[in-house]
Amino acid sequence: MSDSEFEHGTKPHTARCYDYFLGGKTNYAVDREAALQALKANPHAMVAARQNRGFMHRASRFVARETGIDQFLDIGTGIPTEPNLHQVVQSVNPRARVVYSDNDPIVLAHARALMNSTPEGDTAYVEADVRDPDRILEYARKTLDLSRPVALSAVALFHFIPEEDDPYGLMRRLTAPLAPGSALVFSHAAIDLDDGQMAALAEQYSKSVTPTRLATRQGTADFFEGMDLLPPGIVPTSEWHAAQAPDETPHDPGPVTPAEAGVWAGVALKP
Ligand SMILES: C[S@@+](CC[C@H](N)C(=O)[O-])C[C@H]1O[C@@H](n2cnc3c(N)ncnc32)[C@H](O)[C@@H]1O
Repeated sequence: MSDSEFEHGTKPHTARCYDYFLGGKTNYAVDREAALQALKANPHAMVAARQNRGFMHRASRFVARETGIDQFLDIGTGIPTEPNLHQVVQSVNPRARVVYSDNDPIVLAHARALMNSTPEGDTAYVEADVRDPDRILEYARKTLDLSRPVALSAVALFHFIPEEDDPYGLMRRLTAPLAPGSALVFSHAAIDLDDGQMAALAEQYSKSVTPTRLATRQGTADFFEGMDLLPPGIVPTSEWHAAQAPDETPHDPGPVTPAEAGVWAGVALKP
């Protein structure tokens, strides 16, 4: 897609459809139409998006609080939606440093909202594709010290990476240079949590928005190869530390079934 198609909103894009599902205003008519088609395919799509965002909040807060990690690399950031990751982790540790990355130019256009770091911490943004891990890591090194633990966050991103682009190999290239003690915060749309609604959504998305692939629980676990999963392991987003401060996650609409959540999630540490 050319930049002008992005700018003029002639084609729907995942970041803007997701923004619509979260109740944001940074989306065009084509995105809303695609989101409505997605909701026809899977009536739980909006709940799934909000549960996913809630997982991102809880997992980031957990990592900042419980592991002492103070450096975060978030790939597939999405359009800024408060609280963003740096606001969550800097509320725990104001010295936290966060590098954001996304391949959608509209995220760059709104990146100022990602730059309102605490004075003690720092945030940065790079427009880059996760299929170019070296570029992302090179940029991250300007803000983060990769000889110390980093939390890599790839939340609701890898289901947009087609098999031929080797999603598992890309993950290995991203985690290999990270120091021992680093964390991976990860979620992936699921094929085995419902009776085909997520598959219908992926088919609709693949036709009108972007190629979308689903993973089983085992397929999701494989992204964590070489890392130690923290309890409760790979679970639906809605079940990952669900009791943790639900009032702090405004996008979390409350208890839902695993089928409605539709997305696997987990957090692991690199030994
Ligand atoms: C569903 S949103 C998730 C946003 C955020 N991580 C969250 O979970 O709240 C997926 C994001 O991944 C981005 N994305 C999709 N394909 C990408 C790629 N190949 N490289 C980098 N970002 C990508 C989209 O632009 C979008 O912002």
